Amino acid sequence: MASWAVSAVLIAGLTLGSPTEHSAGFTHEAVAADHFEASKAGAEVLAAGGNAADAAAATMLALGVINPASSGLGGGGFALYYCAKDGSLTFLDFRERAPRAADPGMFDGEGERPPGPANAASQLGGLAAGVPGEPAGIQALVDRFGTLPLREVIAPALRLAEEGFAVSEALSKMGEAFDVQLRKDTVMSKWDLRPGAILKRPALARVLRAFAEKGARAIYGGVIGQEMVTSVQAHGGIMTLNDLNAYRVRTRVPLESNAFGYRWVTAPPPSAGGFTMIQSLSILEQAVGEEPEFGAPLLHAMAESWKGPFLDRQRYFGDPDQVILPIEGMLSPSRIQKRAALAGDGKVHPSSDYDLPVEWTGRTATTPDNAGTSHLCVVDAEGNVASVTTTVNLPFGARFTAGGIVMNDEMDDFSRGGGDANAFGLVGGHRNLPGAWKRPVSTMSPTIVLEGGDPALCVGASGGSRIVTATQQVAMNVLLHGMTAGEAVAAPRIHHQGVPGELRTEEVAPLRPELRNALRAFGHRIEPIHNVANVQTIRIERTPEHRLDAASDPRKGGRPAGR
Ligand code: DON
Repeated sequence: MASWAVSAVLIAGLTLGSPTEHSAGFTHEAVAADHFEASKAGAEVLAAGGNAADAAAATMLALGVINPASSGLGGGGFALYYCAKDGSLTFLDFRERAPRAADPGMFDGEGERPPGPANAASQLGGLAAGVPGEPAGIQALVDRFGTLPLREVIAPALRLAEEGFAVSEALSKMGEAFDVQLRKDTVMSKWDLRPGAILKRPALARVLRAFAEKGARAIYGGVIGQEMVTSVQAHGGIMTLNDLNAYRVRTRVPLESNAFGYRWVTAPPPSAGGFTMIQSLSILEQAVGEEPEFGAPLLHAMAESWKGPFLDRQRYFGDPDQVILPIEGMLSPSRIQKRAALAGDGKVHPSSDYDLPVEWTGRTATTPDNAGTSHLCVVDAEGNVASVTTTVNLPFGARFTAGGIVMNDEMDDFSRGGGDANAFGLVGGHRNLPGAWKRPVSTMSPTIVLEGGDPALCVGASGGSRIVTATQQVAMNVLLHGMTAGEAVAAPRIHHQGVPGELRTEEVAPLRPELRNALRAFGHRIEPIHNVANVQTIRIERTPEHRLDAASDPRKGGRPAGR
């Protein structure tokens, strides 16, 4: 196992740089975000006496300022929180939801996407924007678990927005890719996104000040709420002030299962990501045994293990507040056993071999009347853990602003009547069609893994459908293959989502040729892509000195902070 750890790092190191630049050990508290300034914002709040909830909120807020391509107040996300005092695990769902006037056919007939980057109606402009959940999510995290006033949690982000920050390589690259679209927005057209340029965000600073004074209601109503609605409608959208006022965070029971000697706690629906990971781990335990060695047979079985859950996602997943999901049926032992037999037989199967409809009489619940992405991990000195994934979906969301806030394009995560795939190649079923106040299915999988009752690992990723496969591989690298956090994150990853039928490898972290050849010999068609997601993780070592081994993904250039 140790020998793999070394070789993985050597290989990854060729293109990704030394994992140590992006990882660090701490003894009290740690924040791992995909941007160093954001990690520092969280660490600053921890040093000021805040806990993991306060720090996670501060990190999210800072990310929204310094990387508007990935997340921000115009987006939404999920937070999984471990409270050390009582050992409870709470999942806050602050995912965007569709405006009330949304209807199942609203993106029908898009068919072939117009040329250019992310140009479809579900990806660009007013119809693409869901009602943001981020402000309410931040407020809920701080109100429920935090110890500091919101004002103090917002302070580092406000400072960055007012005084400015240096544009990162990652932001600059995304700005270049979407330059033509950004130039059409009154706020973003003025941004100098060359690497190292100092960017200030005065319009957003005004929103942050209002948030600090009045809480999230300052964004869901009043002048700022009105500005948001006006801007969305001016861009062809259907969002109303009532949609903003009616937005609610949902507290959900996380999804969990035991595998490989650990308790894996992760995102429940509307994420399909946590489900995919839980099912894959159960399949793998049976297909490759409880102590799998790293190597081609494990990678092969892993690729096969994802095909079934991705089919389940397509057929059954939707907003759990509006459709009933047969989770138990989908995870039934007999189904797992059948899929494990296929994943363990050494052959590459077409996705259809894994198609096992669940025996269940589904019915649709009634609709209640009132009814880009970044992952961060925080562990504080008391042992509280926050695992948070936040997003505006595609880079710069729907690529327009409202009062300085970049609006999301989360509506692209709904399926379409015509069966076209979304930006991540995911085809959804009728349960995930747009509908009034409905949340679209997600892959975001903030995860906490426990060992003997104590948190052992905080982990999660950004990167669309690859979020879950990357999260799972990094967790397995640490927990099963003995890698450090930095090694585990830097190591090459694979991805398979059933459809398309290719096994993805990474250009930035190529697999060793012998592994690639062995996977080809199994029958996999291998298609390299630039990278498989961006992962942040903190390993909580169970040593008397409470060592925290934190890593940010070199693929996005982040760095952890703490003490
Ligand atoms: O919720 C989801 O699964 C997507 N909206 C996440 C998008 C994403 O990760 C974009 N990535 N880099």
